[in-house]
Amino acid sequence: MFRLISLFTLILLFTCNSLWADYENGEKIFKAKCSICHVGYISGEIIRENFYNKNNKLLHLKSPTVNMMAYSLKDSPLHVGEKDDPEMQKIEIEEFLKDFLYNPDIKNSICDPVILKYYDKKESMRGKVSEEEITQITDYLFEYQSKRQKSNSKKVLSSIDDVSLLLTQAKKENKIILIEAMSETCHFCKTMETNVFSKKDIQEKLDKYFIFVIVDIDKTKLPFGLDVTYKGFTPSFFMIDSQGKLKNKYPGSWTKEDFIEILNENK
Ligand code: HEC
Repeated sequence: MFRLISLFTLILLFTCNSLWADYENGEKIFKAKCSICHVGYISGEIIRENFYNKNNKLLHLKSPTVNMMAYSLKDSPLHVGEKDDPEMQKIEIEEFLKDFLYNPDIKNSICDPVILKYYDKKESMRGKVSEEEITQITDYLFEYQSKRQKSNSKKVLSSIDDVSLLLTQAKKENKIILIEAMSETCHFCKTMETNVFSKKDIQEKLDKYFIFVIVDIDKTKLPFGLDVTYKGFTPSFFMIDSQGKLKNKYPGSWTKEDFIEILNENK
């Protein structure tokens, strides 16, 4: 009996892990091949405001954001494939993407026509992205919605992200931008991940009052001129208002109780 259970757990663990791996590989390829035009997550509320009330003058988008793409493909009125059969739909989306990316045609666009008029014309990616890469990108876009929600609206900044969009979001949602300077080798960053950021009450506070932005200082430059103030400790935390001004900084690792206080001081 014990053997059976542990085998089952192993298989489960293995499949979960490989699902995450597909998603992360897809994300990497997406960032390398698609992010020049398709920027990262912007909340639906801001996107609606931008297109339906501001004629795209707020965000000046020339192509859909990643969350718009995931929505267009899976759930929108013009979605691809069979919504009630996820396995089938994923295959249909993969086929659609192969065709659409190699032979883009405005007639096959799955975009809301009101929004489409603001976008550039899509060019063929033949020779720029392989079929195997499109398969992995499909994994990423297909799982985007559920995986992003799990990661608790926190955002890992990459060097190609446009930080002015963070300010627009902060203004609109009346939130403070909380920046964590971290690195993959930082032991105390991992401790805080386990003891602080994974806790439900912390996550709820973060979601409600903050835009939580993670910056891996080995890969990405700190935004908002913070590199001048930054003393090199990981983790370090910075509170930025919607004008892009530094309000407070908290170098070092914190317990859950201390961190709640920090959040309360700044919300
Ligand atoms: C040179 C800029 C550019 C690059 C690079 C690019 N796209 Fe696009 N993409 C666009 C534009 C512009 C549109 C909107 C026009 C349209 O839908 O016909 C678009 C639309 C889309 C749509 C429709 C989504 C929607 O919400 O309507 C999908 C899906 C898509 N792109 C996937 C990709 C993928 C996957 C990659 C990377 C392999 C990629 N694109 C690379 C410019 C680009």
